Amino acid sequence: MNLSVNANSILDEQLGYAKRVLSLAPTVYGNNPKACVITFGCQQNVSDSERLKGMLYEMGYTIVDETENADFIIFNTCAVREHAEDRVFGNIGTTKKIKKERPNTIIAVCGCMVQQKHIAEKIRKSYPYVDFVLGTHVEHRLPEFIYKRLNGGGRVFELSMEDNTIIEDLPTRRDGKFKGWLPIMYGCNNFCTYCIVPYVRGRERSREPEKIIAEFKQMIKDGYKDITLLGQNVNSYGKGEAHGVNFAKLLRMLNDIEGEFVIRFMTSHPKDCTIELLDTIKECKKVSRHLHLPFQSGSSRILALMNRYYNREKYLELIKNAKERIPDVDLTSDIIVGFPGETYEDFKETLSLVNEVKFASLFTFIYSKRKGTPAAEMPDNISRAEKGKWFSELLLAQEKVAENNIQKFLGKTYRVLCDSHSEKEGYMSGHTNGTAVVEFKADASMLGCFVNIKIESYDNGFIGKII
Ligand code: SAH
Ligand code: SF4
Ligand code: F3S
Repeated sequence: MNLSVNANSILDEQLGYAKRVLSLAPTVYGNNPKACVITFGCQQNVSDSERLKGMLYEMGYTIVDETENADFIIFNTCAVREHAEDRVFGNIGTTKKIKKERPNTIIAVCGCMVQQKHIAEKIRKSYPYVDFVLGTHVEHRLPEFIYKRLNGGGRVFELSMEDNTIIEDLPTRRDGKFKGWLPIMYGCNNFCTYCIVPYVRGRERSREPEKIIAEFKQMIKDGYKDITLLGQNVNSYGKGEAHGVNFAKLLRMLNDIEGEFVIRFMTSHPKDCTIELLDTIKECKKVSRHLHLPFQSGSSRILALMNRYYNREKYLELIKNAKERIPDVDLTSDIIVGFPGETYEDFKETLSLVNEVKFASLFTFIYSKRKGTPAAEMPDNISRAEKGKWFSELLLAQEKVAENNIQKFLGKTYRVLCDSHSEKEGYMSGHTNGTAVVEFKADASMLGCFVNIKIESYDNGFIGKII
């Protein structure tokens, strides 16, 4: 089957609906219909929301930040931890009042959370004022759903995941001017036992290299200087595809594009992080000196239960190889504390790994039980309070590591992108090509430019000066 022909006709159909909404919406809402997109979760969701905004813009909506005066409100949700879901329900609840005051307002919920049957059912029963519940594979059909609803159609629950076609060329409204997201693949095949993502995002599928390169070039033309390639496991990009372009090759192709810019990427799964990739990062000067390599646990016993396909020794070997090849690399990681069956002895192995590797920063989470995942069935005898104690211990350990890390930046000069105004009068804030953020005196006209900054001091953040 030729998927791209199929995808083109899907896009054309939706752009047709968008045009019809463009003329229909003002008859319902007056001349300036407004839409609000509220995003939870990871960068993938932020990027998806940029496409939702792109489509809404094509339909004639002005994008607003507040729900208060919006005629269309969509919550793009995350399912990765229970806390994320609780926040979403709290937010949806507040729209009841809006719907009462302005019954024509359309309320939609999309994204990972609603892809779970029990959540969609809960919304169907307990949140009757929600108009659309849209799964992760149908978000591109938003124009069609809005058009039908404006024409008197009923509630929509569209959660099918059967069609894995990647819809290219959807209109996009990016949030940033200099820093942007670029998805290179969707879904996940890894089934880590704690994780809901493969169930709600479906199987891994990669975009064609030509499509990625074309979008990347367009972003550079539009003034983007710092582009992050997105995927749940970018290291397995292109696996099983006839084009033979793996992630390392893709990075080289992007690095060859003319201009000054930084190429970032996330997330890397340690099991697929190859020496070829490390050498590519080392040799490609536009590729950022940052590797986000989640290890989740320092205990090989727990890593096996998590289905991560590496053990403590393999991970440490990978870190050693990365540091040898890319001495200025900033390493960051994700950690889960309190996985079912984890003992304090296991946790101490996580602590010792943190102390040994000396990460630039960490994203730390207490294990959250996700319905339908294998870990949800594993015995979990440690209390939440006990897990909380371990968690605090971990934060304290990382605080000490971070304090020592500061020293390695002082006195050094970095190429920095002036990407935002600082809160300090007359100061700019910028990123190195690793993870450090530095503030320095600079004129507002420097926004979007690269400058050489010498880092001079640290006061709740790095302070430097242009040299
Ligand atoms: N694909 C990425 C991360 C996706 S989710 C990767 O493999 O690294 C981001 C992070 O959330 C994970 O790395 C993990 O640390 C955390 N996470 C995922 N499921 C979780 C759960 N059930 N409880 C707590 N943390 C979880
Ligand atoms: Fe979840 Fe593992 Fe896939 Fe990451 S690699 S999204 S943690 S299943
Ligand atoms: Fe959350 Fe979905 Fe991302 S579950 S972390 S928004 S892929």
